[in-house]
Amino acid sequence: MHVAHLELRDYRNYREASLPLAPGVTVIVGPNGQGKTNLVEAIGYLASGASHRVAGDQPLVRQGEDRAIVRARLRHGDRAVTMEAELNRTGTNRLQVNGQPVRSREARRYLDSVLFAPEDLATVRGEPGGRRRFLDELLAMRQPRMAGVLTDYERVLRQRNTLLKSARASRVGASALGTLDVWDERLAALGAELVSGRDALVAELAPHVAGAYQAIAGAAQEVRLSTETTADGDPDAFLERLRARRSDELERAVTLVGPHRDDLLIELNGMPARTTASHGESWSTALALKLASAELLRETGQAGDPVLVLDDVFAELDAGRRARLVDAVTGYEQVLVTAAVAEDVPAGLVGRTIRIRAGEILGADAEPGDG
Ligand SMILES: Nc1ncnc2c1ncn2[C@@H]1O[C@H](COP(=O)(O)OP(=O)(O)O)[C@@H](O)[C@H]1O
Ligand SMILES: [Mg+2]
Repeated sequence: MHVAHLELRDYRNYREASLPLAPGVTVIVGPNGQGKTNLVEAIGYLASGASHRVAGDQPLVRQGEDRAIVRARLRHGDRAVTMEAELNRTGTNRLQVNGQPVRSREARRYLDSVLFAPEDLATVRGEPGGRRRFLDELLAMRQPRMAGVLTDYERVLRQRNTLLKSARASRVGASALGTLDVWDERLAALGAELVSGRDALVAELAPHVAGAYQAIAGAAQEVRLSTETTADGDPDAFLERLRARRSDELERAVTLVGPHRDDLLIELNGMPARTTASHGESWSTALALKLASAELLRETGQAGDPVLVLDDVFAELDAGRRARLVDAVTGYEQVLVTAAVAEDVPAGLVGRTIRIRAGEILGADAEPGDG
């Protein structure tokens, strides 16, 4: 699948933009702060209903305006699909596919994108939250239903934490604890589904990551992925773990058991990448996670090849990794690359160049690989 046309209105620093896009490689060039990431963020927004950079939609609406529009024409083989998102500063947002309203989690059925960005390094080296987000986003992409499970789990978790806090504050006994039992059941049902969903995903992802690591690093390293869970993929066992920690939970007034406390362990040659990988190895791992996601979506997605977006990544990589990343992505139907200067883009990435300045698309050069 590819994006054939993108239109923005009052999105971030764009007042009006209309951009025809083609399959293959498109390089988007412009100095920092001009709107390159904003442009590719808009495509990710259509696919996922959220920005990869901020929580909430308000920052996406152009300053001083009340609503933004992101519209795309997609091509799936010879089938055309139009998607349009309306982001309102106040009130609810709307998403339409071919003119029909759809829920944002359904957008995945029409558009998948995988974004590579400098922040990916934090997936390897940073806090567990980044790795959970990585897994959960991929889970939701592959099974739109899981997006609903995630939202429900987070809501139940918040409510349960509120209850734990009030139980601690008022030192209440039986009645609050009875209510807690009800929340435990819900947490366990939803949480177990997430735990087993992540487990299955990691099992599928692992061989792809190992292969992608080799392709990017150009060197053999044993890469292992495993989930570290505080809970269990079985609701009854999950519930048991909760019960075992209840007194701790009442004391600390937070939920200590569940997928929100879990992590994805990444090992290189038997050592945790988070604490032992070199800078180059961490980059190879981060890129491998994204490439593996793209491969998995390509294999099993309903929408065909995901749109690959490489936002400002080449400037971060050494020559070898640059060249090998180019080899790994060129087979995808559509690849969008952003860079501050054309020299950051490896010569092997041949495609159209689009220039951007202060929220305006200055035009496209027909010349392939034109710097
Ligand atoms: N809601 C908004 N309204 C107006 N301008 C915005 C909004 N959000 C971000 N910007 C502007 O967009 C620019 C950043 O664009 P970005 O795409 O991140 O740049 P880059 O080209 O470096 O990737 C900044 O100048 C920022 O002020
Ligand atoms: Mg940027």
